[in-house]
Amino acid sequence: MSQAIGVIDSGVGGLTVAHELMRQLPKESLIYLGDTLRCPYGPRSEKEVKKFTREMADFLLGKHIKILVIACNTATAFTLNELQNELPIPVIGVINPGARAAIKVTENSHIGVIGTEGTIRSKAYEKALLRIDANIRINSLACPLFVPMVEQGVLSGKEAEEIVDETLLPIKKQNHIDTLILGCTHYPLIKETIQKVIGSQVTVISSSEETAREVSTILEFYNQLYKGTESPAHHFYTTGEMGVFAKIAEGIFSESVDYFQSVTIKKAVLPN
Ligand code: DGL
Repeated sequence: MSQAIGVIDSGVGGLTVAHELMRQLPKESLIYLGDTLRCPYGPRSEKEVKKFTREMADFLLGKHIKILVIACNTATAFTLNELQNELPIPVIGVINPGARAAIKVTENSHIGVIGTEGTIRSKAYEKALLRIDANIRINSLACPLFVPMVEQGVLSGKEAEEIVDETLLPIKKQNHIDTLILGCTHYPLIKETIQKVIGSQVTVISSSEETAREVSTILEFYNQLYKGTESPAHHFYTTGEMGVFAKIAEGIFSESVDYFQSVTIKKAVLPN
C-alpha cells in the first residue's frame, strides 16, 4: 500500500471528512482513528485535548502517513499550530477551510458558528473569519448536547429535532445570520435536522469539502498524490467499541468498508 492520508477525530464525526476525502481523492488510501473511548473532547481542558490529540497523531505517524488531517474542530482549535510546528509531515485542520467556505457564501456578512464548548471558548472561528474579513459579524453558540446525541446514533426524528430546536433558539431568535458554520465534525451527521430547524434562508456550511480540497492542493504541491494503479485500501480504527462506530461509518459511506479495528493507543507524555 502507498503512504496513506491520516485522519483523526475524537469519534465518528471526522468520518464525514474522510468520506469527502474519498470522494475528491478516490485513488488515495486513508487511515482513520476515532478516539471514541474518550469522546467527547468538547468539554475537556486544553491540556487534555492536546495530550489526546498528540497520542492519536503518534499512532498514525507509526503507520507512516504522508499528511495528517485533524478532522476535529476542538482538536484543531487547541493543537493545530503546535502539531504543524512539531510533526515531520504536513498537518491541516478543519477551521480555516470552514471559515473560508462560509465567507464565500455569506451575502449579509453575518455568520453563525456552532461547535463544542472547547471550540467556541477558543474563539478559533472568530479569529479565522476576522483574519479573512475584518467586517464579518459573528454569532457563536456552544451546543453540548449534539455530540452525545450523534454518538448514540440519534440523527433525525422527533427527539433529535427537539434537542436541536431548543439548543439553536438563541441564534434563531436573533434572526440575523444568513450562513451557519457547523463548527464540529459531528454536526454534518445532523445537517438535515439543523437545516430544518434553522430555516431555508440560512446556508448551512460543513468544512469537509474545503478541507478535502486543501489536502488535495497540499499533496499536489509536494508531489505526493498517489500515481500507482493499485486500488486504495482504507483502515478505520477506534479506541472504543466497534458496534456503533461501524454502524455509523457504514451509514455514511453507504458501502462496506475494508477494515475496522478497535485499538488501544499509547499514552503520550507531554511537557507541562
Ligand atoms: N469532533 C469534535 C469536534 O469537531 C466533536 C466531538 C467532541 O466533543 O469530541 O469538535
